[in-house]
Amino acid sequence: MAIIGGTGFHLREARRQLGDLREETISTRWGSARVTLGRLAGRGIVFLDRHGPPDAAEERRVPPHRINYHANIAALKALGVTGVLASTAVGSLRPEWAPGTLILPDQLLDRTSTRRQTFFDEEAVHVDFSEPYCRQLRDHLLRRAESLDIALADGGTYICTEGPRFETPAEIRVYRSWGADVVGMTAVPEVVLAREAQLSYAGVSVVTNPAAGMGDGQLTEAEVLEAMEQAMPRVARLFMAAAETYRDDPRAPARRATEEFGSPDVT
Ligand code: HPA
Repeated sequence: MAIIGGTGFHLREARRQLGDLREETISTRWGSARVTLGRLAGRGIVFLDRHGPPDAAEERRVPPHRINYHANIAALKALGVTGVLASTAVGSLRPEWAPGTLILPDQLLDRTSTRRQTFFDEEAVHVDFSEPYCRQLRDHLLRRAESLDIALADGGTYICTEGPRFETPAEIRVYRSWGADVVGMTAVPEVVLAREAQLSYAGVSVVTNPAAGMGDGQLTEAEVLEAMEQAMPRVARLFMAAAETYRDDPRAPARRATEEFGSPDVT
């Protein structure tokens, strides 16, 4: 199992439970990704900081439109990962979803414009995306959340914008009319590539702010980070519990996504 940490995710809470952690750089034909490898309940676990620099010598955070999603997903695949839990910071388009609310999205809308969305440029591979997030892994997370008494909203439509700027209130009004519930900048193409790589993937979105025009005042990065910091212990507890009890289901549709195309290698 792998955990992809988004903005504000850190390993502080998880460290106590994990065996010796080591950092590694994984090279793929798409570029390299820096991962932290550990052990949980006798099994390997992989952590990947989505905005982390691929090279240990660098310190910069990578902005959403520059993340090497291909290298990240290919690296997880190369490590033998079968399931991915990912956290994302989002703005809320629903007044009842205040900052701090955890959402388990089940649908996606795509408003990105510069991002390559496939591993397969040379061959026609069309994966089914009726359920962009793996239902089996979502169900697993819901059960774990319930047993830990962590509130997790079941379902929601995530709209992914290109960023890095926040939205205008006019855009948010349109996105609401389209049925979007939360807005973020990183689900696409991560969710798409995970499906092409035949990984079970589920995301937990942390509401960090009311979407543009829905709260009072302007959006700030500081408010996003502050809300993430507060929610982090809950997200980490949920992810660790889910990872500990996760069992791969090779028959899950997400794990068979490119079967009819001969499951081409993405690494
Ligand atoms: N918009 C886009 N991405 C975000 C937001 C937002 O309001 N909050 C956190 N990530």
